[in-house]
Amino acid sequence: RTVYVNGDYLPEDQAMVSVFDRGFLMADGVYEVVSVLGGKLIDFEGHMVRLKRSLSELAIANPLSDDAYLAAHRDLVARNDITDGLVYLQVTRGNPGDRDFAYPSADTVPTVVMFTQSKPGLADAPAAKTGWSVVSVDDLRWGRRDIKTVQLLYPSMAKMEAKARGADDAWMVEDGRVTEGTSNNAYIVKGNTIVTRELSHDILHGITRAAVLRFAREAQMQVEERAFTIAEAQEADEAFITSASAFVMPVVSIDGARVGAGTVGPVATRLREIYLEESL
Ligand code: PDD
Repeated sequence: RTVYVNGDYLPEDQAMVSVFDRGFLMADGVYEVVSVLGGKLIDFEGHMVRLKRSLSELAIANPLSDDAYLAAHRDLVARNDITDGLVYLQVTRGNPGDRDFAYPSADTVPTVVMFTQSKPGLADAPAAKTGWSVVSVDDLRWGRRDIKTVQLLYPSMAKMEAKARGADDAWMVEDGRVTEGTSNNAYIVKGNTIVTRELSHDILHGITRAAVLRFAREAQMQVEERAFTIAEAQEADEAFITSASAFVMPVVSIDGARVGAGTVGPVATRLREIYLEESL
């Protein structure tokens, strides 16, 4: 695999970052994941808008132009012969040469790393036909989940707990209400209404979320942006999640209780179809 590091394209075993990089020592960095379907980048501009917002919230200077990010994504997709898969992009505050809590001087050069993951048949994931099961866990993350930082230890722990409990993913709950999945936004469906948590510092502002809500409104579905409880979700007709890598994925069980009929429902199926059609 060819990996991008600070402007160079290198074989992955030669792609190196300093041990003093703030991303390594302090999780001081942000990332984006862009899907590739049929060689095409999905929702690329949206991801770049959010990347710039994440960088600006952390006062990390944006190291590349929009054109340079796009060119590097395209180069990596081509060099690695990716038809279906994803491009991972990470920008950290860089290597100040030592460890210190204070941010280093503004002339510290951010570290930019990009790599691809090939996922043949990504859009035809068999799980989309059977749906995911999720379990609830307390949301113990920090208070700025709208910034897409590489600080992913708690979501990773939650994923492990979900697996240990025989589920596919965890829905995180704060003050009795669902925030989001470990790496996706959470939704329930009641009749013709789709409910998903409103945007705030409590959740990541999903790029797929924005597109799916737009398509839902265009298809005359009602959208309510508000928080919901696990009990309400268990009594819903359907549930699903969205993310750049899972697109729209039905959720058929929550903490062992079937959602609706316990099978993949028509709204999630339709939104997945619309999202994939419109993206391709
Ligand atoms: N995760 N919420 C969280 C906590 C996420 O990590 C993600 C994305 C989302 C969905 O955002 P989007 O639709 O823009 O992908 C919501 C990526 C895919 C990841 O960490 O791999």
